[in-house]
Amino acid sequence: TRIALVFGGRSGEHAISCATAAGVLRALDRERYDVLPIGITPSGQWVLAPDDPDMLSIAGSDLPEVVSAAGDVVLPMATSDRELIVSEHGKLPRSLGEVDVVFPVLHGPYGEDGTLQGLLELAHLPYVGSGVLASAVGMDKHYMKVVLAGHGLPVGPYTVITPRLWRTDPEAATDAVESLGFPVFVKPARAGSSLGISKVESRQDLAAAVAEAQRHDPKVIVEAAIEGREIECAVLGGRGDQPARTALPGEIAVSGHDFYDFEAKYIDAAHVRLSCPAELPEDVIARVRELAAEAFEALGCEGLARVDFFVSPTGAVTVNEVNTMPGFTPFSMYPLMWERSGMSYAELVDELVQLALE
Ligand code: DAL
Ligand code: MG
Repeated sequence: TRIALVFGGRSGEHAISCATAAGVLRALDRERYDVLPIGITPSGQWVLAPDDPDMLSIAGSDLPEVVSAAGDVVLPMATSDRELIVSEHGKLPRSLGEVDVVFPVLHGPYGEDGTLQGLLELAHLPYVGSGVLASAVGMDKHYMKVVLAGHGLPVGPYTVITPRLWRTDPEAATDAVESLGFPVFVKPARAGSSLGISKVESRQDLAAAVAEAQRHDPKVIVEAAIEGREIECAVLGGRGDQPARTALPGEIAVSGHDFYDFEAKYIDAAHVRLSCPAELPEDVIARVRELAAEAFEALGCEGLARVDFFVSPTGAVTVNEVNTMPGFTPFSMYPLMWERSGMSYAELVDELVQLALE
């Protein structure tokens, strides 16, 4: 089986994706899989990357960019069935041969958001993970809430600031935010890894936070702060007609940071504790797992997703968000939850490939 591992990408989460790709590359069983690592540079070029996990991994906070092995530019074209083409500037294209499945380990816009998935559909290439719609909805924190709430799932209070509203009536936008009650979290609607997110305590601090979020996405979502523990649950698609599977939930505990921001996630790991299984009453664990599976279904996810929750001191469970390509380094929460549920990182990677080939 020939796998194209696509990673890097144009989003602010480029480096996280490289780290994930290194983990997946290391874990794929080379007796069974032939792997073609394809990096997407921050400017959007597809290049053949070295088949060497060490060249893709994160060393400390020194985040890498995609390196091209040969400078070849890859085009995901379907001249014949499932063929990938290499084309260098000014040279004749040559074929990289047939690919059985694409494993896109891309986070954020232009990768996790349905754009790459659309390209792969057009090229007739099977791929790991969610399709176009679920990826697009999962990327957009606004439409994600609309869909989740439409399915009766508990989501927190929020308001959306479109670029037009912010230009034409910032007063009304600010009033809407104020009615949520401070503090609030101001977020780019479509980004990941907490990029562009600020916690805002008062009306006068809103404009700066909106400007920061707008650096990542012109559409901004503002969410009421929800008191509670941060609990996450890993979901894996079911084989055949089986329902989606959920892992034992995990908990994120952050100290020394205002919230689980980019720094805490990737750079200052000493202040973050991932624990799994989360110490919660049985009935709350059951509720979290049930809601995780329902959220996966509501968005029409495939393959994998990590559903993030807040669990209040009284045990009330709120869905915060769904990530269709969750952080997937060997130290990330998604694989940790599966490991604690009896599935190793290598088994998980293999299962995802098999699900895509079904
Ligand atoms: N967006 C990051 C990778 C996550 O959800 O884990
Ligand atoms: Mg996310």
